[in-house]
Amino acid sequence: MTTRPEAWHRSAVIYEVAVHSFQDSNGDGFGDLAGMTKRLDYLEWLGIDAVWLLPIMPSPMRDGGYDVSNLTGVRPEFGTIDDVKAFVADAHSRGIHVLTDFVINHTSDQHPWFQESRQPGSPKRDWYVWSDSPDRYSDARVIFIDAHDSNWAWDETAGAYYWHRFFDHQPDLNFENPEVREAVKDAVRFWLDLGLDGLRLDAVPYLFEEDGTNCENLPGTHAYLKELRAMVDAEYPGTVLLAEANQWPEELLPYFGDDDECHMAFHFPLMPRLFLSLAIGDVAPVDDIIMRTPAPPPNSRWALFLRNHDEVTLEMVTESERAAMIDAYAPDPSMRKNLGIRRRLTPMLGNDRRKIELLNAVLLSLPGAPVIYYGDEIGMGDIHTLNDRDGVRTPMQWDSSASGGWSSADPADFYLPVVATEEYGPTAVNVAAQMSDPESLLSFTRHILQTRHDTPELSEAGYERLEVDSTSVLAYARDSVLVFANFSGQPQSVPANGTILAGNASLAEGSLDLPPLGWAWVRTDEQTP
Ligand code: GLC
Ligand code: CA
Repeated sequence: MTTRPEAWHRSAVIYEVAVHSFQDSNGDGFGDLAGMTKRLDYLEWLGIDAVWLLPIMPSPMRDGGYDVSNLTGVRPEFGTIDDVKAFVADAHSRGIHVLTDFVINHTSDQHPWFQESRQPGSPKRDWYVWSDSPDRYSDARVIFIDAHDSNWAWDETAGAYYWHRFFDHQPDLNFENPEVREAVKDAVRFWLDLGLDGLRLDAVPYLFEEDGTNCENLPGTHAYLKELRAMVDAEYPGTVLLAEANQWPEELLPYFGDDDECHMAFHFPLMPRLFLSLAIGDVAPVDDIIMRTPAPPPNSRWALFLRNHDEVTLEMVTESERAAMIDAYAPDPSMRKNLGIRRRLTPMLGNDRRKIELLNAVLLSLPGAPVIYYGDEIGMGDIHTLNDRDGVRTPMQWDSSASGGWSSADPADFYLPVVATEEYGPTAVNVAAQMSDPESLLSFTRHILQTRHDTPELSEAGYERLEVDSTSVLAYARDSVLVFANFSGQPQSVPANGTILAGNASLAEGSLDLPPLGWAWVRTDEQTP
């Protein structure tokens, strides 16, 4: 057992990693847990508080591992259960917490539960959602619109349709069935028994279905999550549940319950609006969504992110906003996926260091736990022509060699190729070079993480909007720390007093001068207005 500080998640900065692309320790071209352990020196140096591992369970890998064929095991290419324990123990010895993905809503069609369920007369038939007709739940939207136009698929062996909210090889579990509810709890226990500090619950809004509804956020879903939370609190105190729910703030808030459901939930609507505001040089979209975001209960936190392993989902913006964003950020159709944009942070922002720093400065100062996507701290590029969302999951670039130093395998055997362009390949973008360059993006990231650590207000204080005389400056107070971010390409001046903690603005005689796309964190002794 580990001793973890109660509520460690309240001040955590989380680092998200695709294990298969981080570090290959045995030269088979697939990243693994032993490789993760080797790179803990780096993660500790960087100064993050927690690592979130993408799914490491056995999987045919038809959806990046989110197609799980055994909820209580490790895919052999990632390593063994002992490798999980070794990684967790080493991370803990450095004060780093470990979360992993837990795919709760569905399994792979290769999971033995589904294979049994398909058989006529199977006692497990009711473990998945079957129907004689594909007309039930017709008000539920299709999420992967590039792949499917229905949430039902026909299974010949079963002689029935099965329900799937994502790919048709990912049948949804039937949470109406008490056996499923218990089996999933046992799988959660399996992972937390290994010493993990928490689980990211994948796709939580869809656990229950009900005719006449959109089958999202239903009462049954919240009731089950509360059961899980009660179990976790009783049996694994200090471990956390992080909800992935791509929903509006008012639908998201119930996932915290009364501090008795999930400890954290991703803030999906904020993310595209940060990019939108940058594209139009006007902070209104960001400001609107923040004003529409209720404060979570005291022990709960938003999980904030700029980019992750998925496309920039544009479900939570209007049609015209979506068009503006596609225009600005995905001019080439191959950059688009489903309703979103499959690109990494740096190429999306045109490799403009000012924009990258600006968005990170906002990410790290809004109320919530910031999540940084591996590789974005060095400005990695993507390969948007790869299958599905694989283009944003390419190998980490550790050094300037052609392989990026992540694997000794023949590059032809790499699970995913290394970015090879002049602008973003390992010669131009790698950890080793940036570690020794105080001016690099990596050094900037490490430094701003340190400043955040030294500024507890940024994890604990509430959000207070500050009035400023400019539509392109986002201004807010977190207690006595003021944040100013200029989303336009024009310099801006705003009244302010205090000392600059971080940023590229200058402060004199009650005036803060922000360069184009400039920003500042300011400590003030004055009462905020
Ligand atoms: C989540 C994951 C995504 C996956 C989907 C289906 O949204 O983030 O990568 O494809 O769930 O499991
Ligand atoms: Ca390997």
